[in-house]
Amino acid sequence: LAEWVVAPGPASRELASALAKALKVELVDVEGRVFPDGESKVRLRGEVRDRNVILVQSTYPPVDRHLVQLLFLAHRISEEGGMVHAAVPYLAYARQDKEFLKGEVVSLAVVAHLLRSVGVKRLVTVDIHSVEGLGYFSFPAFSTSATPLLARHFEERRLKDPVAISPDLGGSNRVEAFARLMGIEHLALSKTRDRFTGEVSVRETSLPVDGRDVVLVDDIISTGGSMCRAAELLKRSGARNIYAACTHPLLVGDALERLKAAGIREVVGTNTIPSPVSRIDVSSLLRDYFESM
Ligand code: R5P
Repeated sequence: LAEWVVAPGPASRELASALAKALKVELVDVEGRVFPDGESKVRLRGEVRDRNVILVQSTYPPVDRHLVQLLFLAHRISEEGGMVHAAVPYLAYARQDKEFLKGEVVSLAVVAHLLRSVGVKRLVTVDIHSVEGLGYFSFPAFSTSATPLLARHFEERRLKDPVAISPDLGGSNRVEAFARLMGIEHLALSKTRDRFTGEVSVRETSLPVDGRDVVLVDDIISTGGSMCRAAELLKRSGARNIYAACTHPLLVGDALERLKAAGIREVVGTNTIPSPVSRIDVSSLLRDYFESM
């Protein structure tokens, strides 16, 4: 199985093509269509027998469609005798990694099981919500991090006495890594989320940010609620410019407008998910991962 190829899932054609170019390997032909009733159909046209196949498919919205396409393609590649290495830059359901309320499905565990059942032999993702989630995979699973790329982006800005802040305690390690790379201070807010309504609130009432620039750092911006609550507190505490950095800009609905309205000057994300703010390219992270294997 010496030879490597890249197979582009319908959700990640550009990223797959950049990765194939960076690794100097063939990009095999894959077709994808969606029928009027919402069913997906995928067709593998390239040759994969006895090859290591990096199947690139991010599972951003429509989440279930992209997940099903990933499963279908992995199944087909395995049937054809290819070894499937799934590169899933944004891994959906990673936040559903515990039974928070009694009776809830640990959806990430089911996703891990499904991937295995269709023959996936390895998974690489970018900034999984929590690294503990990798424990659900019974085959090699790895999360690479875009934090150094995000930090480099902000290093090039002339920020005034900057501080990096995580909107919640769960992001403490992430914001610490970001701040260490930039050589700046950091802290994490105590965010709470109502498990029934999804409503977010922040416990702190003021922060030592008067006249300073702040970079809010999170793995995901979905509705923007977490970032908006943090930005409101920062404004009240006298922050100068507020920036928001994330790996996965889901930006559901009017999230971007709400972030701007909350006083966030600039939102920066990566291309694990295509969006108007996906300015950081993660193909080099995936290249480095596969080159080091
Ligand atoms: C949750 O713990 C994640 O790290 C993000 O903070 C969260 O998913 C962001 O969601 P939203 O933008 O809807 O507040």
